[in-house]
Amino acid sequence: SQYKVAVVGATGAVGTVMLAKLKERGFPASEIVPFASERSAGKELEGFGTIRALTDENIQGFDLALFSAGGATSLEWAPKFVEAGAVVVDNSSAFRRDPEIPLVVSEVNPEALDDHKGLIANPNCSTMQLMVALKPIHDAVGIDRLNVSTYQSVSGTGVKAVKELEDQTRAALNGDPLPDPAVYPHHIAFNVLGGAGNFPEGDDHTDEERKMMFETRKILGDESIKIAVTCARVPVRSAHSESVTLETREDLSVEAARELLAGQPGLILVDDPSTHSYPTALDSAGRDEVFVGRLRRDPTHERGLQLWVVSDNLLKGAATNAVQIAEVLHQRSLVRVSTPA
Ligand code: A2P
Repeated sequence: SQYKVAVVGATGAVGTVMLAKLKERGFPASEIVPFASERSAGKELEGFGTIRALTDENIQGFDLALFSAGGATSLEWAPKFVEAGAVVVDNSSAFRRDPEIPLVVSEVNPEALDDHKGLIANPNCSTMQLMVALKPIHDAVGIDRLNVSTYQSVSGTGVKAVKELEDQTRAALNGDPLPDPAVYPHHIAFNVLGGAGNFPEGDDHTDEERKMMFETRKILGDESIKIAVTCARVPVRSAHSESVTLETREDLSVEAARELLAGQPGLILVDDPSTHSYPTALDSAGRDEVFVGRLRRDPTHERGLQLWVVSDNLLKGAATNAVQIAEVLHQRSLVRVSTPA
């Protein structure tokens, strides 16, 4: 089959990469149509034709739609695409908590796609890479408790955040006064922000931290996993890094854990202390895989393990996984919206 595919948010940080990945991976599309806001409608997007605005008329006739245009746009337009007959893979957080909507990491829980009702949620970027690393361990011995600190790049916040980091860095190096922060609550250049995301009213955790706590349990299908998270923003362009400490339910040697990780699709081990080999953000940027290193015993707990997990937040963390979901839907003949019985 050949599908007519819409990419909504086609001019954004993630949408641009969705378009590129659809082409690069040879997704069987007869046509790929870019959508963005009224500001961009009518402009030409090289290789993809004229950008369309979201109107009831423009959204007819699609088989698939990949969304990354913010939660409000998804809430309004994703159901309309479904109504018009398209299967939607949505990168926003708008639908992730809905128990009726599958939240899918392509190599981790593809079976959740089987009974989709037209809408599929793409997980949060930090959660995505964590799931690829934890899945084989959880399947083998169970994970009782997790403690994660993230070191998140600015591209996850969007194009404006990358510019903010660059402008502040340039000013700092020139000895000029730093421009006031606009995207983040503090300066990001030469800094580390210990609370990535926003604090919902009355909450001592950020929304970003809550996403990892909720989505981990939904994707692994285990509400009993205990999770503590701190999400930090660091002055890195692309790729999120994570320090992970976990306690397994059953015994697992470091060597057995290493074998489990080595057998996980989409994961590459980079782990040799003797040569300072462990994944870095710069090495992982531009790659589709999740990279894991620093695997070792947590000396404070007999079933404790520690690892370092790095992946490009715009790729596996967003665009690549959305396209991989589309690929699984195609392979399993699930590119259709089931009519309720
Ligand atoms: P536009 O470039 O026309 O504003 P990012 O995550 O990098 O900030 O990108 C957000 C993406 O979502 C852009 O492609 C942006 O298009 C698009 N977008 C923002 N608001 C809307 C809207 N109301 N309708 C459609 N697309 C939107």
